[in-house]
Amino acid sequence: MTSNEYMVDSYSDLILNTDRLAMRWFSMDDAPRVAEICNNANLYRTLLLLPFPYLISDAETWLKSQYEGRLCGKMYDFAATIKNDAGDPGLLIGCVGIKPDYVHNNASIGFWFDEAHWGNGYCTEAAHAVLRFAFKTLGLHRVFAGHFAGNEASARVQKKIGMSFEGVQREHFRKNNEYIDDCMYSILENEFDENMYTR
Ligand SMILES: CC(C)(COP(=O)(O)OP(=O)(O)OC[C@H]1O[C@@H](n2cnc3c(N)ncnc32)[C@H](O)[C@@H]1OP(=O)(O)O)[C@@H](O)C(=O)NCCC(=O)NCCS
Repeated sequence: MTSNEYMVDSYSDLILNTDRLAMRWFSMDDAPRVAEICNNANLYRTLLLLPFPYLISDAETWLKSQYEGRLCGKMYDFAATIKNDAGDPGLLIGCVGIKPDYVHNNASIGFWFDEAHWGNGYCTEAAHAVLRFAFKTLGLHRVFAGHFAGNEASARVQKKIGMSFEGVQREHFRKNNEYIDDCMYSILENEFDENMYTR
């Protein structure tokens, strides 16, 4: 028996529905598609922890860890899939995840999307739904995020979902022997607007 068998999967059937997306949990079957999306230098460049090249085995390791993280309530990663009329499983195009810290009642939020689908407002739509989950379902007080300096797409998403710019942690990250500024944003529960986001 593993330790997971003692844990309750409180949100096992949860799906976050938005206008265009159904946001479900990942399964191990998603590994090839996750690898297809993440094996991309343009994702690697702006993400802290993504390996490159990104193999199916990397996807499998990540999927296993985030499933365990969800059981512990430490990590909730939603698979953003495009809704379709045919009732088929929608195409997986990205991920929005939060990592709660219940001591401080806050969470970090992060996201990545398939480059083929960038610029259509999908990340904004998905991230807004995950903020709702964080504040209304988990009852968290604060959600925060950072992005590498120069990642204007991430900055724009954070502003569009109502997050406020807080400042810069200078040369906070080191990636490939280069120090990179961390641009920080946050939103409080009482600032979250159910209806506020623009595509
Ligand atoms: C960040 C990311 C998830 C955004 O996904 P997306 O689905 O394209 O996001 P959206 O379409 O909802 O919004 C993107 C916004 O950024 C804007 N944008 C994109 N590139 C930009 C640039 N170079 N300069 C200014 N704005 C830019 C888009 O125009 C859009 O804003 P608009 O709606 O006002 O036109 C995607 O670019 C990605 O996966 N990047 C790699 C991983 C990453 O950086 N993750 C975040 C780490 S902090």
